Amino acid sequence: MTISHDPADGKRLVVLISGRGSNLNALIQACADGRIHGRIVQVISNRPQALGLDFARRAGIPCSVVDHRAYPDREAFDRALADRIEASRPDLVILAGFMRILTEPFVARFAGRMVNIHPSLLPDFPGLDTHARALAAGADTHGTSVHFVTAELDGGPILMQARVPVHADDDPGTLAQRVQAAEHQLYPAAVGLICAGRVHATGGTLEFDGSRLEQPLLLSDIIEAR
Ligand code: GAR
Repeated sequence: MTISHDPADGKRLVVLISGRGSNLNALIQACADGRIHGRIVQVISNRPQALGLDFARRAGIPCSVVDHRAYPDREAFDRALADRIEASRPDLVILAGFMRILTEPFVARFAGRMVNIHPSLLPDFPGLDTHARALAAGADTHGTSVHFVTAELDGGPILMQARVPVHADDDPGTLAQRVQAAEHQLYPAAVGLICAGRVHATGGTLEFDGSRLEQPLLLSDIIEAR
């Protein structure tokens, strides 16, 4: 899929959250300071109490709640959510701590234009409790990944990763803090590349600057190349 170029406003971004919204906040800052050539046109939470909604409100971004508890099943919720997203005509849908398993029809509606951030170096540790699992596995390096979303949980093609060291005295909390600090750089950098038209997702593969991306970009490479 090629995201159409609109030099005036940049890309139209819809961000989905479930909780704290620190990644949303990092994306808001990056749109404001020009690292992302795009505009967040709507923030949607599946939880009415999500703290992250405050970041959107303070930035004057329209936000809404599609509460999963109001729907009889996953399919009905996903249909309502997809309709709400499409009303904003997004170029890119950004999952930022959106803690719902998505149905195949939902994923198909946004194929090639939906990304997620996951707190591990995928394909290691998909799913939950990634920091505790990395510690239990004795990993000396951990990190975070931005990937395009496919029907496989945390399994879509990976665009970019950031690595962090694991320290001997880490617990899941200290490791999570280090990973999240990296996420706040990684997600804006990855979304910035997509909005600049440098990334194209087709099927299960990615192109970066016109060539097939054989392995994920590393955030450190991108920062050094600036
Ligand atoms: C982030 O660490 C993100 O990677 C993780 O939830 C956190 C949300 O934090 N996402 C997942 O685990 C998805 N599988 P935030 O609400 O402060 O952005």
